[in-house]
Amino acid sequence: MEEFREKIFGYLIEINDIVDKIDSEAKKGARYFLWDQAKNFVKIRILIVKIKELDRNLERFSPDDLIMRLLGTSIASQNELFQSYGEDNWYFKFKAAIKDFQDVIFDLYIYRFTYDTFSENSRDNDRKANILMSLVNTSSALLEIGPGTGPLFRRLIRRGYDVNAIEYDSRMIHELFSRCSEAQGRVINADFFEYNLGENIYDMIFIESGIFLFTLLNNKLFFELFPNLEFERVRIGFNKIFRALKRNGMFLIGIQGLMKKVDIGRGMTFEMKRTQLEDRAEREINWCFKKGYLSKKKILYKIRQSKPTIPFEKFLQFSFETGFRDIQIHDSYEWVILRKD
Ligand SMILES: C[S@@+](CC[C@H](N)C(=O)[O-])C[C@H]1O[C@@H](n2cnc3c(N)ncnc32)[C@H](O)[C@@H]1O
Repeated sequence: MEEFREKIFGYLIEINDIVDKIDSEAKKGARYFLWDQAKNFVKIRILIVKIKELDRNLERFSPDDLIMRLLGTSIASQNELFQSYGEDNWYFKFKAAIKDFQDVIFDLYIYRFTYDTFSENSRDNDRKANILMSLVNTSSALLEIGPGTGPLFRRLIRRGYDVNAIEYDSRMIHELFSRCSEAQGRVINADFFEYNLGENIYDMIFIESGIFLFTLLNNKLFFELFPNLEFERVRIGFNKIFRALKRNGMFLIGIQGLMKKVDIGRGMTFEMKRTQLEDRAEREINWCFKKGYLSKKKILYKIRQSKPTIPFEKFLQFSFETGFRDIQIHDSYEWVILRKD
């Protein structure tokens, strides 16, 4: 929460600064005779008032409130506003500042607030967790890497499985605990790549996300220049997991299915398109306001990614070099299973 406040304050100060400049321009008045310009001016005024109000009352609003108020106003005014102003510097600065502000809010809040809803509704977590449970028993020691808000983790806990997790995003852990208090004491808040998992501890380690199938850096150019650094990190990850498993232990990697369009409440939908190409995955994720909410359907926030993925031969090479012998894809195509013999 503190980190969020600090960031949000920084952005608010920047936005306020720029907004003040708009304010003083606007007071010159003569530019606003035409009706559509006047309308835009009103929108800016609303935005200014809202932003200033937020700034003063930050402590009083719940984070949810705060975000919806800011997004509601900035989205509504932003497009038209930007189209009708000239190419003055402050206008671009204003646009960039608002965009940054939204990025931060999405990164820190919207993603984790909506994560559980879209993952619960876009795949069959019961089935996915049942497969894990069918491979072990309640006295087996399990570890999940990156449980997020816990779609699988909490199913296992509630069925009495001895499962722990390592998750580096404390905000996700907070969300997880708020949904499953039994998870408390079972999650290590650390980066898997930095943390010493120990040796011969777990019967099963599983990961339902792309850390191993995607490369670890998002920067395509960097990957193209230094692919070996990236591969090296994956190799380190495989070794860590191998060592932490008991003999006959299993490492399971979840295969992400296609995600359906999901209603995430507050008038919003979550839509994701994902195309796997030979060397990379293309993803587009849209958070949209539904038709009727802000008159017509509007994309509220878009994430477009092109992530290089580890070629299958490399994956096999790393697995065998690490010592895994038996590699199998589960019949349901939801898990890849690597065994330590
Ligand atoms: C796509 S989410 C998957 C969440 C969950 N396992 C599920 O089934 O939906 C990936 C999660 O892995 C976490 N994560 C990514 N890299 C990590 C790392 N190096 N160490 C620990 N957690 C990590 C992220 O913070 C995020 O919560």
